[in-house]
Amino acid sequence: MRARIIGTGSCLPETVVTNDDLAKIMDTSDEWISSRTGIRERHLVKEETTAGMSAEAARRAMESAGVSAEEIDLLIVGTLSADHVTPSCACEVQARIGAVNAVAFDINAACAGFMFALNIANAYLQTGVYRTALILGAETLSKIMDWNDRSTCVLFGDGAGAAVVRAEEGTAGLLAFDQGSDGVKGGVLACRGRSNNNPLVETPKELSYVHMDGQEVYKFAVTAVPHSLQKTIQAAGLAVEDIDYFALHQANIRILQSVAKRLRVTEDKFPISLDHCGNISAASVPILLDEMNRKGMLKPGMKIALSGFGGGLTWASAVIEW
Ligand code: ACO
Repeated sequence: MRARIIGTGSCLPETVVTNDDLAKIMDTSDEWISSRTGIRERHLVKEETTAGMSAEAARRAMESAGVSAEEIDLLIVGTLSADHVTPSCACEVQARIGAVNAVAFDINAACAGFMFALNIANAYLQTGVYRTALILGAETLSKIMDWNDRSTCVLFGDGAGAAVVRAEEGTAGLLAFDQGSDGVKGGVLACRGRSNNNPLVETPKELSYVHMDGQEVYKFAVTAVPHSLQKTIQAAGLAVEDIDYFALHQANIRILQSVAKRLRVTEDKFPISLDHCGNISAASVPILLDEMNRKGMLKPGMKIALSGFGGGLTWASAVIEW
């Protein structure tokens, strides 16, 4: 029995913001952003919400899988930007799509959130607890950016991606995975978040935004990701050359190029969506996967390596046979 992705979907907000648009409201340029990151534009929400985009991505994934909402028995959303503290984004999605038989919950593993959700779903499906899972990565990062900090706000975008995963007999599905975290280094990419309403505690009611030490994040990514991928590929009984595509978290083109170089793989095996989406944290991997799927790039028997990495710090990889 293997956990197999049988359908994908995604949803991006309507409004497209180009690098030139950003240059009109802050001291930056298309040249600076695109040469350092590969990002040319991103979609940002106006009316859309994390749950609303998630529900739309979920509907598209269920349609692509040929699965009804009633068949979903596990619904997990990886997100660090849910609309509310409670109810969870997953419970809101459950209500919106009518997944009445599902157990629904969110997980926060930052940019590795979708990959953690995949590995959690795999554990449930492998043990026979559930049969059909709907897993998502969804973010509205625009609301937690400091729009006065040009070194971070230009990097991120909003959107949602989804996959239906089912326990199936056969060789296709998840072959191996690896996941890890390193809380000691959490400060290099943080959003300290909440104000404290406790009347017994005096804390400044300051707003908090994403703060990143870009160079430390870069060093972490180009070390941890190739290591995790190599470990996972080996655990799947494969060699790096056997992998048809590396569908990685879309943080930065330079990170992807460095991972490709370290693995001695040509860059054409690393499809990208960051040029038109920016970095959408947990949503990056499922949106990329959905784009690949809809373009017909994924054929039965292909071996795909997936990897997410980011805040926490967290990382997770998987090798799947399509
Ligand atoms: N436009 C113009 N100039 C800018 C901008 C901008 N948007 N942002 C920063 N600068 C300036 C800085 O002010 C600085 O100017 P100074 O030299 O006069 O002080 C100069 O550019 C260099 O700034 P650095 O922060 O040192 O820029 P760096 O070359 O390190 O590039 C970057 C920044 C692209 C973020 C890089 O550190 C990187 O690739 N980091 C990887 C981390 C990453 O991609 N994180 C994404 C999110 S995390 C994740 O998803 C895992």
